Amino acid sequence: MTSPSGPSESSRGERVADWFDGRLGIYALGKQYLRKVFPDHWSFLLGEICLYSFVVLILTGVYLTLFFHPSMNEVTYHGSYVPLNGIRMSDAYASTLHISFDVRGGLLVRQLHHWAALVFIAAMLTHMMRHFFTGSFRKPRELNWLFGWTLLFLGLFEGLFGYSLPDDLLSGTGMRFVDGALLSVPVVGTYLSMFLFGGEYPGHDIVSRFYSLHVLLIPGIMAALVVVHLILVVYHKHTQFAGPGRTERNVVGSPFMPVYLAKAGGFFFLVFGALTVLAAVASINPVWSYGPYRADQVSTGAQPDWYLGFAEGLVRVMPGWEVTLWGHTLVLGVLIPIVVFPLLLVLIGAYPFLESWRTGDTHEHHLLDRPRNRPSRTGLGVAWISLYLILLAGGGNDIVATRLHLSINTVTWMVRVAVFAVPVLAFVITRRICLGLQLRDAELVLHGRETGVIKRLPHGEYVEIHRPLDPAELHTLTAHKRPRELMEREP
Ligand code: HEM
Ligand code: HEM
Repeated sequence: MTSPSGPSESSRGERVADWFDGRLGIYALGKQYLRKVFPDHWSFLLGEICLYSFVVLILTGVYLTLFFHPSMNEVTYHGSYVPLNGIRMSDAYASTLHISFDVRGGLLVRQLHHWAALVFIAAMLTHMMRHFFTGSFRKPRELNWLFGWTLLFLGLFEGLFGYSLPDDLLSGTGMRFVDGALLSVPVVGTYLSMFLFGGEYPGHDIVSRFYSLHVLLIPGIMAALVVVHLILVVYHKHTQFAGPGRTERNVVGSPFMPVYLAKAGGFFFLVFGALTVLAAVASINPVWSYGPYRADQVSTGAQPDWYLGFAEGLVRVMPGWEVTLWGHTLVLGVLIPIVVFPLLLVLIGAYPFLESWRTGDTHEHHLLDRPRNRPSRTGLGVAWISLYLILLAGGGNDIVATRLHLSINTVTWMVRVAVFAVPVLAFVITRRICLGLQLRDAELVLHGRETGVIKRLPHGEYVEIHRPLDPAELHTLTAHKRPRELMEREP
């Protein structure tokens, strides 16, 4: 793109832009994408929180690699944390103490990395549930749902491998859990454990193995998936809530350049800032107070990071059943939980396909559902969340028991009953609430809003005056098709 009077008069910036356009075709790309429209709704920020906390994880993770030693060689500690002076520990643990007490900004960056991990996975779960409740996973976005779901799945393991690296007593206890889970796999369990740990648990290799997975393989796959995920968001265009002027064929909102870019840039610094404040004021994973890992020790109150608490809960509340078949002992008390753990995640990953199969809906959808208009789906989502939360409480049964002065057996039994009862109740109650809200919407559409003004008619009757909804509200409340419900019988 040169000025009409020729290239000689174009500014320096233009010449640089021309240079790039000649090689990358940036003008055509800009024309196509710089005015891309982004709908305005607070829930769209959840995807951005995922993105920005992932960026913070990469930045802080790279800083940590400069000082962390992924080695289980034994060393004697002589650093500035006096209570552990002279104690033998792994090089990994000693370097984590070094990062925490001797590296400039090291503790802040460690805490920032850990807080960002917790927020990242919370944001992914919330972002996923917002897509679930609003039905944005329907055709043509099922594949993008799957890419996102894979990100969540990888994120859970990336977090597990990350907090196992410092080789402190808590993370070692987590590794003992992983070892137990592997050993419970029928027939090949012992081989799997030996393969992972490079010999008898805990071995000398696990930290360096997890390190390669944690800093290279998994973040590499995740970064590639994030790029594909976002390309697909641009390709499919955003979904939007129904409203005046919004149809299945358009997107109403502000353009990428300059409005969205300015907002998103500001929001990145907000997320980064909030995480940094959290890291500065709230202590997380103080490994020095746990001590180095020793295979013959375990502490009470040992919980994984919150997102894996539900897997821990499954194991803690499962009765310790064991059966012996053909000379093999099957530890059902662990085997059943480790089968149910991925199943709980797989069910939610496969949901878009299950729903379209059940409802027979194969149409494209670009307008979002209001959760109340899909009572069964909303009920299933709330039931899934309630199960997750109950198992999370089960994973902390010792903490719940000591804090509430209850017997741990009482808490375990309460969780066992709740695992079956609460999701069903949550489903039924949510469904009823949705149906009630639909009736309220219908009432509003038909009769308008109550004004509180009572009028007396000439023949003596008292009536309340209702104000009809304005056309925009009326459109929003009625702009949805009546879809076939998940729980309806076949016609
Ligand atoms: C989705 C991405 C990631 C998650 C969820 C995650 C999570 C974690 C967690 C929870 C820890 C334990 C921190 C602690 O000591 O309290 C950790 C440690 C670590 N992470 Fe990450 N991480 C991610 C990405 C990365 C990347 C991209 C790198 C490097 C390029 C990295 C490098 C490290 C290192 C070196 C440690 C050990 C240092 C230490 O524990 O102090 N992480 N990670
Ligand atoms: C690293 C993790 C993730 C990042 C950075 C990310 C980022 C984003 C962003 C920025 C958007 C566009 C704005 C929005 O609709 O909120 C989006 C859309 C989407 N995400 Fe994610 N996401 C991640 C994980 C997930 C997960 C775990 C799921 C579900 C299992 C998911 C499913 C979707 C779907 C279906 C859309 C398209 C929705 C639409 O067009 O309205 N994403 N994602």
